[in-house]
Amino acid sequence: MCGIVAVIGSREAAPLLLEGLRQLEYRGYDSAGLATVEALAAGPAGSPAEGRLTCLRAEGKLINLTHRYEQHGAPGQCGIGHTRWATHGKPEERNAHPHLDGSGRLAVVQNGIIENFRTLREELQAEGVVFRSDTDTEVIPHLVARQLERIQQGRPASGALLLEAVQQVLPLLHGAYALAVVWAALPGALVVARKAAPLLIGLGEGEFLCASDTPALAGFTRTILPLEDGEVALLTPLGIELYNAAGERQQRTPSLLSGTEHVADKRSFRHFMLKEIHEQPETAALWVARHLPEGGTAGGQAGASLVALPLDEGVYEGVERIQILACGTSRHAAQVGAYLLEQLAGIPTSVFYASEFRYAPPPLSAHTLTIGVTQSGETADTLAALAMEQERRSLVADPAFAPRLLGITNRPESSLGRLVPHILDIGAGIEVGVAATKTFLGQLLAFYGLALAFAERRGGGATGHGPEQLRRLVAALRALPEQLKALVEDHDRRCAELAHLFADTQDVIFLGRGINYPIALEGALKLKEISYIHAEGYPAGEMKHGPIALLDARVPVVSIAVPGLVFDKVLSNAQEAKARDAQLIGVAPEGPDTELFDTLLPVPEVDELISPLLTVIPMQLLSYHIAAHRGLDVDQPRNLAKSVTVE
Ligand code: G6P
Repeated sequence: MCGIVAVIGSREAAPLLLEGLRQLEYRGYDSAGLATVEALAAGPAGSPAEGRLTCLRAEGKLINLTHRYEQHGAPGQCGIGHTRWATHGKPEERNAHPHLDGSGRLAVVQNGIIENFRTLREELQAEGVVFRSDTDTEVIPHLVARQLERIQQGRPASGALLLEAVQQVLPLLHGAYALAVVWAALPGALVVARKAAPLLIGLGEGEFLCASDTPALAGFTRTILPLEDGEVALLTPLGIELYNAAGERQQRTPSLLSGTEHVADKRSFRHFMLKEIHEQPETAALWVARHLPEGGTAGGQAGASLVALPLDEGVYEGVERIQILACGTSRHAAQVGAYLLEQLAGIPTSVFYASEFRYAPPPLSAHTLTIGVTQSGETADTLAALAMEQERRSLVADPAFAPRLLGITNRPESSLGRLVPHILDIGAGIEVGVAATKTFLGQLLAFYGLALAFAERRGGGATGHGPEQLRRLVAALRALPEQLKALVEDHDRRCAELAHLFADTQDVIFLGRGINYPIALEGALKLKEISYIHAEGYPAGEMKHGPIALLDARVPVVSIAVPGLVFDKVLSNAQEAKARDAQLIGVAPEGPDTELFDTLLPVPEVDELISPLLTVIPMQLLSYHIAAHRGLDVDQPRNLAKSVTVE
């Protein structure tokens, strides 16, 4: 988490840094800070000018830092900035980045975690260094300053010297990080580095802007150079010197940022989250247009098949098992995906919390496809779990165990895109609200596509889903954009009217079964994330084994009940809750069966396998309106960040 920016060129750095940070605020907003270096006077011929470093930091959101900048200024054409999601040390100003060395002449911003910081800190303290923060990052400026002192030996300050010092410090740092360093002695250079955390350089006209993510670069340039793992770069207005971890000079051609999807605009909506909920019919329409070819026939040859996904045929061949690694909302999409892959395509599929998988992976299975799901493509737990799987499988000689990795993401240009050989891009456009909505729908659709593609290739024999049923499902998917449009508009109004009922609510139970159980989990997660109400998602049949003890008239129960395999069972489970005086909210089709609900959030009757794509809408809008009614910061909920780049 956290976002970093760094800029060098001929324009004032601070406004560029603040704008970059504004675009990265989704990564954390506990505090923000910047440091600039201003050239004071030209040095003697051949030597760089001496400079002065200004460091501004403020607790809380970026606006506080902006006010500080307006009061104090921060001159200079070279600088670094940071927006923080607290890991080590409370979200107070003294823990805000940039962190300085003892002389106050060297400043560092960092995104990641330096896992061995305690040892390094003790070592530095034993040498007399005084620490001013509780952060892991503060060891870095002290280490670089110590190294500079050791190697300078009368040499004039130069970019090469700073680079050398940073290169010598990096091997001491364990963990994952992206960092940027400026030095008061160098108004015309800065150094950046990354290891297992993202960092991209944007190339402008005689200026460079580095950032943790593309939205911060989109308004500056379309030409980017993503740093590879372990790389270090020295930036001056004249160019970039790039080195790998072994210190060898690297040459790479920059790439182009595509489309306008990286520009975030709230339009007339009150919050990004609401805008993004309303964009879902478009997300679905785009997906249908891209992946459900007109005239496709089940079992057809490539080009005439029901689903067209941009994946090599080799991805499907001989797959006997699938394992899916994900976190948070992406994990809920994965659970729907697993249901589809098993029930539609007949492939045994397991879903893992990425953070658990890494330290307790299941025994290796043969012919296994591993899918990483992450909307941001930067979630450290997911990336680390995928890298671990890649590595342990690469060590096995038997080709049956060879790694086969596929990523599902909204950011194909992300670290995930560079880690795995195959990517399904959900193409939902940038999502700013921290609570994922349209990217969740996009992930679900990716799984529908994948499960249909597998089912089609397997002829449906294992599950009884023959070509006719696959065709029916595809037809239902084609109808989805229109249904979503009506549903979003209808439930926006209904949920806004309902929200006041939850003014004093402290607990909510979400129930679902089968393919809608993950939607109950997602409903509960959305509510927790943005309204801070305790919520639990439960498989409806399990409620009687514990959670039913929580129920009384003060605990609303949201029950997803759609016609299909478990309809009657879910209705019975809802009756059990009603018998305990719970206020029942049904996400279900209108009809005599669903009259038991105190409040109905109606969804159209569709094939049960398709239903999660619709039942999720009232979940999102209910959470949104409850949080908005409570006057909470829907787009930037407390303690969260959109992209969690620490393990
Ligand atoms: C964070 C966000 C969640 C998100 C999760 C996984 O915790 O707050 O909303 O679901 O990360 O993110 P990913 O980018 O991997 O989908």
